[in-house]
Amino acid sequence: MLDWTDKHCRYFHRILTKQTLLYTEMVTTGAILFGKGDYLAFNAKEHPVSLQLGGSEPKALAQCAKLAQERGYDEINLNVGCPSDRVQNGMFGACLMANAELVAKCVASMQEQIDIPVTVKTRIGIDDQDSYTFLCQFIEKVMPFTKTFIIHARKAWLSGLSPKENREVPPLNYERVYQLKQDYPHLTIAINGGIKTIDEIKQHLHYVDGVMVGREAYQNPMLLTQIDSQIFGLPKPAIDPILAIKGLYPYIEQQLTKGAQLNHIMRHTLGIFNGRKGAKQWRRYLSENAHKQGAGIEVVEQALTFIN
Ligand SMILES: Cc1cc2nc3c(=O)[nH]c(=O)nc-3n(C[C@H](O)[C@H](O)[C@H](O)COP(=O)(O)O)c2cc1C
Repeated sequence: MLDWTDKHCRYFHRILTKQTLLYTEMVTTGAILFGKGDYLAFNAKEHPVSLQLGGSEPKALAQCAKLAQERGYDEINLNVGCPSDRVQNGMFGACLMANAELVAKCVASMQEQIDIPVTVKTRIGIDDQDSYTFLCQFIEKVMPFTKTFIIHARKAWLSGLSPKENREVPPLNYERVYQLKQDYPHLTIAINGGIKTIDEIKQHLHYVDGVMVGREAYQNPMLLTQIDSQIFGLPKPAIDPILAIKGLYPYIEQQLTKGAQLNHIMRHTLGIFNGRKGAKQWRRYLSENAHKQGAGIEVVEQALTFIN
């Protein structure tokens, strides 16, 4: 998720769950090939991690996929679900649903270059192209080149709604995603959209192969601490949130010496104590202090004193 699942966030989430597949923010082929920063940077502790690419030029995507494989990513995911104007101007994201042939070419071109899986994240439709037949036509064009689709169970309006509204206004239609799994049982289908609890995840898993959780995992990271035992069946107690924060200390120290700012790391942890006494003070203390010049572990330690 853009601006959310950066490398600091993923490192933190990996402390909370060992099994869950983590995704990067969408990174465009332009940024990777022509940008100044290292847009493929990630920490070896993040595995398994999927790089989400935004783009629609088969050659550029293949080049980026190859670079990503060399860097050690576990999977490449193509974004065919983002409806923002910026992304549409670049001719990628959700608008690509209208051009399944191009998506097929993009996926094929990437998969030819790499051995790690290429997967596709998409919606159930766009604008008035929202019938089940439309979705099936899209899937059928692309499925010769990938077996795995993650489906955000609402359509996107390509104009008139902001990206935020496009995550809230079009109604969720889980049945449609279940239908897809029923009609294409050989595909791996993961469902996404509005899923918030372990019970809901378990419910969906009766019908599909996987569940992607976005906002809830970010805003309520404690959810992630239950996944390994409740979903993957590992005999492992959920990690204590205070220990999770302390588990970040070596990473924080290392990142601060590399020039990172404490608030850029800690902002992803703000929701960890939600519902607990002192959670508000924890958030407030970090928000008011972690951005200050020279802020380090002592700021986190102080913020933790509010939690009991
Ligand atoms: C801040 C933010 C950034 C997002 N960025 C991306 C992105 O880069 N790529 C993507 O496929 N989806 C992105 N999404 C959409 C989510 O991945 C997800 O599909 C959507 O929020 C619905 O799932 P949820 O209800 O579990 O959050 C973003 C969502 C949010 C809130």
